[in-house]
Amino acid sequence: MRQIATTAELQSAVAEAKAKGLEIGLVPTMGALHEGHLSLIERALRENDMVVVSLFVNPIQFNNKEDLEKYPRTIDADLKLIADKISAMDDLRATELLAFTPSVDEMYPDGEPTEVYHFGPVEEVMEGPRRPGHFSGVAVVVRRLFDLAQPKRAYFGEKDYQQIAVIRALLKQIQYPIELVPCPIVRADDGLALSSRNMRLSPAARAMAPAINATLEQAAEMAEYEDVDDVKEWVLDTLSSYHEVNPQPDGLKFEPEYFEIVDAITLQPIENWDDTDNGAVGCIAVWLDGVRLIDIVKF
Ligand code: PAJ
Repeated sequence: MRQIATTAELQSAVAEAKAKGLEIGLVPTMGALHEGHLSLIERALRENDMVVVSLFVNPIQFNNKEDLEKYPRTIDADLKLIADKISAMDDLRATELLAFTPSVDEMYPDGEPTEVYHFGPVEEVMEGPRRPGHFSGVAVVVRRLFDLAQPKRAYFGEKDYQQIAVIRALLKQIQYPIELVPCPIVRADDGLALSSRNMRLSPAARAMAPAINATLEQAAEMAEYEDVDDVKEWVLDTLSSYHEVNPQPDGLKFEPEYFEIVDAITLQPIENWDDTDNGAVGCIAVWLDGVRLIDIVKF
């Protein structure tokens, strides 16, 4: 593993790899790595000759200054996790991993980028209207990473399901021949989707949080015999009234922001289960203990 902090160094390492005909896999992250990120890195190491992992807290995708300031920055621990992962793997294909850790000035030398991306319907639902500018900020940094790393494959987690649809739309817009590889959500043993935000939950909230996934899993079973609207309503009601059924300390409760059942590719809400040929996905955002958690379930 080699840590690289400048774009110039990354470009020359990439040029060298390309000259040798190596296939490059890219794993964009904001650091604060956990097993979810590591699963993407592991897959990239098995499928490519060289892997670039970026660790960069991208300021332009945060629409909340406090969220940006509170974002954990743990580069040394992150690099150790990656090194440990590599040494625990046997049949890996990659011979080199570059950990790209640029500063904000390095990534945006001309100051805050002015380009704005629009993706139409896939960004007009769920996270889009609630986080204005977020997906455009993601697209700006991801495109820059594509330009620098010139990957054959790029790895993204289904934890951020809408982000994958946005990257798919970005690739269509810019017509780069990059294979988008969606990777399944990694969960804690109790079902909670791993997220760097889980660290901000109090012990009582952390103990309550697995009910999100448990409720979604039950919803997937209900989908066998209930209508879309009924499943939606049941999920929202179950979580909103959770604290009444299971009394909690400190007034802890779930406050769902949305739960939508959408086409797995277009992300447009469906009314009936057979409205889609792509499969249906349920996407939720729910507040707990001042932390906004997101998760999905496939129907
Ligand atoms: P970040 O939140 O660090 O996530 C990096 C990648 O890890 C994303 O593709 C995300 O979906 C994936 N990931 C996070 N938790 C996961 C889990 N529990 N299981 C599987 N994959 C998981 O997403 C971003 O950073 C940024 O928006 C980024 C794409 C890096 C652009 O700045």
